[in-house]
Amino acid sequence: MRAMPDRAVPAISHAVPLLEARSISKSFGERGQRVEALRDITVTVGTGSIVSIVGPSGSGKSTLLNILAGLLRPDTGAVLIGGEPATNPIGRTALMPQRDLLMPWKTVLDNVTVGMRLRGISRKDARAEALGRFPRFGLQGFESAYPRVLSGGMRQRAALLRTILTGRDILLLDEPLGALDAITRMDMQSWLLGIQAQFGKTMLLVTHDVDEALYLSDHVYVLSGRPGRVIGEHRVPVERPRSYDDTVTSPRFVAQKRQVLQELREGSTT
Ligand SMILES: Nc1ncnc2c1ncn2[C@@H]1O[C@H](COP(=O)(O)OP(=O)(O)O)[C@@H](O)[C@H]1O
Ligand SMILES: [Mg+2]
Repeated sequence: MRAMPDRAVPAISHAVPLLEARSISKSFGERGQRVEALRDITVTVGTGSIVSIVGPSGSGKSTLLNILAGLLRPDTGAVLIGGEPATNPIGRTALMPQRDLLMPWKTVLDNVTVGMRLRGISRKDARAEALGRFPRFGLQGFESAYPRVLSGGMRQRAALLRTILTGRDILLLDEPLGALDAITRMDMQSWLLGIQAQFGKTMLLVTHDVDEALYLSDHVYVLSGRPGRVIGEHRVPVERPRSYDDTVTSPRFVAQKRQVLQELREGSTT
């Protein structure tokens, strides 16, 4: 086993983050049975970086991504893109929802090209571009198949391909590897890092898996239990490319993991 070099990654510019949630609060429901989902959340995502949000179930992670994607309005606070308030963020980011939402009546190829077709790209051009990506996404041979025959990992790769083919620079990924078994999940984490490097996307991803957050990210935000509040913020000073085994066994990683777990434990009881 190789020791991790004790050298920080080049600092990602947070001077003007590409994406920012600023002081966002959100409640659901009527008076009397109000559910406070998010309280005063500020999260920044630098260009080209991977930022994770970890938090227990019900801490408002999906709500936050939906607000950043423009599908929900915050009660207070703002979404900023490129430093400017985005009053209507729809179309500025690409959201991969927690459930993959592949349409069972459409082939894999038609599913992954949906976003491009909505952008007005012709069927022929959309298909040509998507087909060129099938091998890299481990989907070759399944172009004409229907989603029901795909394995869990393939479904998630198809959903991610659809998200990437939207052409947006900012990807919002809601538990993108959530439904996978441990081995597939580890393989997919490394694969996801390769995809991010290849396509140069900025990613904000949500997970409840601390190892995954630390392994993938430049920055990790920790949310408390409901209402979700930021109770920890961590920079992960490991250079890329990262090997899974070397990264997760390095003493620094183990120490950071312990700290995040402690924050989660304390944050769920308050
Ligand atoms: N549309 C909604 N209407 C009412 N309550 C909601 C709605 N969406 C989410 N909630 C509530 O807000 C809280 C946070 O939910 P969610 O964002 O899905 O958390 P997470 O993704 O972290 O599990 C939960 O208590 C959930 O029941
Ligand atoms: Mg969720």
